[in-house]
Order: sequence, then C-alpha cells, then structure tokens
Amino acid sequence: MDRIEKLCSYLKPCSTFADVGCDHGYCARYMLENSLCGRAIISDVSAKCLAKAERLLDRYVKNGKCVPVCCAGLEKIDPETELVLIAGMGGEEIISILDSAYIPRNFVLQPMRNVREVREYLLDKGAEITRDDLFSSGGKFYFVISGAREGNKNAYTPAQLEYGKGDIHGDLGLFLEEELKKNRGYLQRNLSAESRAAVAERIKFIEGVLSGENE
Ligand SMILES: C[S@@+](CC[C@H](N)C(=O)[O-])C[C@H]1O[C@@H](n2cnc3c(N)ncnc32)[C@H](O)[C@@H]1O
Repeated sequence: MDRIEKLCSYLKPCSTFADVGCDHGYCARYMLENSLCGRAIISDVSAKCLAKAERLLDRYVKNGKCVPVCCAGLEKIDPETELVLIAGMGGEEIISILDSAYIPRNFVLQPMRNVREVREYLLDKGAEITRDDLFSSGGKFYFVISGAREGNKNAYTPAQLEYGKGDIHGDLGLFLEEELKKNRGYLQRNLSAESRAAVAERIKFIEGVLSGENE
C-alpha cells in the first residue's frame, strides 16, 4: 500500500472535507470516489499545484462536488468545514497554518518533521488528539495526528510527545529500532563532544522507550 492509500485510511466520512496543500488531489479523489464526503474543497498556495488537482477531479469540479481554492493555509477555508487534512508538509509549516487561522473542527495532520512541536502546539491550544501513530510506506515512516478542535484534554508522557502513541510492538517499535541504528551510526563519525553527548542521550532515551522504562 502506498503512502496516499495509508494516509487516506485515516480519513473519516464527513459532510465537508478540505485538503489543504492538496498538490495532486489524490486524497480528495479518495474521499469523492468512495462517497466519504458530500463536498471536497481542494486548496493549495500554488496555483500550479491546484491546477493539477483540478484536472484530476475535473468531473467533480464540474458537478460542484469539488471546489478548488487557491490560498495560503486555511485563509479561505470555512472554519465549519467538518474535516481538514494537512499532509506532506513540515511541522513548522503546519503550526504556522493553524496559528494564523484556527484549529479545524476535525483534523488529520501528517507532518514530515517536527512532529513533537505539532503535538505540543495542539495540546497547548486545548485540542483533543484522538489518534497519534505512524505507518510505513516505501521504507519510510510517517506520523499521523488525528483530532478535534474541542474535546477531552490529553495526557502525554515525554516519550509520547516525542513519538506519539503508536504500537511499540508494531510500526512504532520498528521506527525506534531504525532510529537507534541511525544514532548508533552517528557515534562512528567524528563528532564534537557536545554532539556526541546529545546522540548518546538520544540513544539512551530510545532504549528506554523500547524497554518500557521511559514512558
Ligand atoms: C509535498 S506536497 C504534499 C501534497 C499532499 N498533501 C500529500 O500529502 O501528498 C505539499 C503541498 O503543500 C503546498 N503548500 C505548502 N505550504 C502551503 C501553505 N501554507 N498553504 C497551502 N498549501 C501549501 C505546496 O504547494 C504543495 O503542493
């Protein structure tokens, strides 16, 4: 299964769906083809990227089920949109999008990096995180954070803030084993004393998470 297919499996049926930073438009296509949304808004800051999605979804654009919007982040997206996907961008970009607009009613976020910062931001803003795990595709791991603007407050341990709440006996365990290997590899390099200490600290932390000692 490729990244898009796995990512789409996190999307729930809704009345209105917006794919912010849609690029190709594959996620909106998944929602529309599977009748999972009444209407899909495809948006991108790049007119060129949006045009790609418009071409892919031409028949839905023509029948009004898909609405293209060229804008930065959530700028022109109705805050009442039931479900918003923001995927394939850096965590810092996702935070900036949310911070300059609002936290969507329901969201699925797939940051490519700085995932801890995204979790911290959401928790700080009082959003509820309902699912926080990862999947692997093409030899890479992708974290996905699903949640809602309002809801129950979440408790996160330092390890969960760093790595989410995935299955330690599944993809999360595999991800951490790879992180361990990568960091042990760094120690073979000619590092400054400061970097070496930081890498050693990270290895200890990951080993603790894997053994259940660091929760
Ligand atoms: C790497 S693509 C990811 C596409 C798709 N979401 C996915 O996960 O496969 C990132 C897309 O986000 C768009 N983008 C980046 N920053 C944006 C922003 N602030 N607002 C809207 N779109 C943005 C880019 O133009 C690009 O089309």
